[in-house]
Order: sequence, then C-alpha cells, then structure tokens
Amino acid sequence: MAETVLLCILAYLIGSIPSGLIVGKVFYKKDIRQYGSGNLGGTNTFRTLGVKAGIAVTLADILKGTLAASLPALLGVAEINALIPGMIAVIGHMYPVFAGFRGGKAVATSGGVLLFYVPIMFLVIFAMFFISLFLTKYVSLSSMVAGISAVTYSILVEPRDIPLIIIVIILTTFVFYRHRENIKRILNKTEPKIKWL
Ligand code: G3P
Repeated sequence: MAETVLLCILAYLIGSIPSGLIVGKVFYKKDIRQYGSGNLGGTNTFRTLGVKAGIAVTLADILKGTLAASLPALLGVAEINALIPGMIAVIGHMYPVFAGFRGGKAVATSGGVLLFYVPIMFLVIFAMFFISLFLTKYVSLSSMVAGISAVTYSILVEPRDIPLIIIVIILTTFVFYRHRENIKRILNKTEPKIKWL
C-alpha cells in the first residue's frame, strides 16, 4: 500500500515537470504563459517559441505520461493499473506543483499514457488529430476530436477493458474542461487557426 501511494506521488511529480516553462526560460528567457493563449503546453510553445521548441515540449509532455504509466512495471508494483499513475501525471501536468499549479490542457500527457497502454490506439488518435487539424486548422478542436476518438475507440475496440474506458472518459473530460476558453473562442470565431497546414 505504501509503495502504491509513493508511486502515485512520483507520478504526480513527473506530470508536474513544466517542460514548456523550462524550455522557455532556459533557452529563450520567456515564460510562455505570458504569451499567446497563456497555456503551458506544446501548442503555445510552437506559437511563442517556434517549431523546435514546440516539438521538444510536445515530446517531453508525451514522455511524462508514458513514464508515469510505466512506473508500476518499472518499480515492480503489481497492485496498481498503469492507467492510474498515468492519469495522476495528467493531473500534475494540468496543475503542476513546480509551476504555481498553472499548467497545460491534458492532451500530450494523456496521449503518452495511451501510447504506453495501447500503442495502436495512440496511433489511431494521432491520425484523427491530424485529419481534424488538416480540415479545420484548429489545434484545440482537434485535441477534443482526439479525445472523442479515444472514447469511441476504447468502447468499440476494447469493450472488455473497463478501466481503460473509464480512464479515457476521465482524460477526455479533463481535455474538454481545460479547453473551455477555446470552445468559447471557436464559437465566437476568434480562436486562432494554424497557418502552416
Ligand atoms: O493542447 C492544447 C491545445 O489543444 C490548445 O492550446 O494554446 O491553443 O490553447 P492553445
């Protein structure tokens, strides 16, 4: 039991590592939360610091979810489903103790959890994200499409994996909750579109 609690704390701390803040402050002397959407995630890093920084932060945020979900296997703690520390890392990513609890929107880190747990599902969601991005040019809307795709996939393709279905619904709820300002902007037609696709 104590091991499980420590593992969950470790997962939260991993999720709390503010990749966007670190890359911005160390390499560009900027807090990306002062720019663009104010979000501490890959998209706002792309927007504020450019492609290299955006890719680095997105990959680091994905890795946080993958690493947290792999903790039970890495530490030999069998009594906890990998999805639980994965979900806790997503909470850390949204509300990071190392960055004043002002973090990201749950997308990349949730993707990292699914990459560990069902890699093929990650690929399907990734494809859905890019199809939506190509068609709409909205990253935020495409993130929500990815969330809905994840719920649909888990129910249709993995119907017996109830923990997966429940956690995917929770993660998608996080994604929608954290995108509430984006949703208002999409409806007002003031949400910025990407220009490079
Ligand atoms: O993953 C976050 C993305 O969906 C939206 O980011 O900065 O445009 O609010 P942003």
